Amino acid sequence: MDQRSSDTIEREAEAEPAEVAIELFSEAGSVEVVAASFAATSDPRLRRVMVSLVTHLHGFIKDVQLTEAEWATAIRFLTETGQMCSATRQEFILLSDVLGASMLVETLNNRSDGVLTESTVEGPFHVVDSPARDLGATIARDTEGDPCLVSGRVYGDDGRPISGASVDVWQANAEGFYDVQQPDVEPDRNLRGVFTVDDEGRFWFRTIVPRYYPIPDDGPVGELLRATSRHPNRPAHIHFEISAPGMRTVTTHVFVDGTPYLDSDAVFGVKDSLVRQFATVDDPYQAGEVGLPNPFRTVNFDVVLKHVDQSTARD
Ligand code: BEZ
Ligand code: FE
Repeated sequence: MDQRSSDTIEREAEAEPAEVAIELFSEAGSVEVVAASFAATSDPRLRRVMVSLVTHLHGFIKDVQLTEAEWATAIRFLTETGQMCSATRQEFILLSDVLGASMLVETLNNRSDGVLTESTVEGPFHVVDSPARDLGATIARDTEGDPCLVSGRVYGDDGRPISGASVDVWQANAEGFYDVQQPDVEPDRNLRGVFTVDDEGRFWFRTIVPRYYPIPDDGPVGELLRATSRHPNRPAHIHFEISAPGMRTVTTHVFVDGTPYLDSDAVFGVKDSLVRQFATVDDPYQAGEVGLPNPFRTVNFDVVLKHVDQSTARD
């Protein structure tokens, strides 16, 4: 190698950093610099999600000109949210719920196209080992509250009834509590049960009309609601999870028309199509027929499920 060519190499080596131009962190270029750090991510979906997350997070920080004290508060809040989580309490899901994130993910992944029964949040009070009950049975294991007959029919999106569908229901009591919130007060498995529809897709069961209730607000999420002058309440509703082989499972509620908080649900779960009148029937003969005291309330909730490829069906 002659002197000239080695000079050239040295010059090239010196020039190299300027030519490669590694971009360092700056306020203006923060998104590009951090996004570039994900360039080698082999999973393209993860790369896309992380780059978008950084883009929006940095945009948010710049938009509100976040102070160091505010960021420290946010970190404390998220730390306490994590510390509040246990086997029976999921404060992060609650946070997702009050920010409308749960409903947005639920809604965009379960489009109803005006045909299917709309979905809504599952909430924290579902149990996997709910008791199987016969059609017509009561799920109310104590007697407080307005007696109510709930009935409906499960159809596929082709309009045909689905025999053998499973209808899992759970609800709060007439004071707005779920059994799992009052283990020493309510009977075990109160106000929950799994029904199998008949050959014509029909289901019916007896219960009481639930009351509206507050979501758990004794943790960081409650603190956030109070700091932003929001109430913690959910309008009265009965939860349903309806499934059948070859159909997309729907997790939804039926809301009691006229209940408080229908227009300000703390978790944004209300959809117009899910609100039903719980009409009063004052007729001793009908009450006797359905095994309820007179007068009683009644609601009908028909459900339409989407056919899916068996291999992609949930459950
Ligand atoms: C519920 O309806 O059970 C519920 C939903 C979201 C948060 C808390 C409770
Ligand atoms: Fe609920």
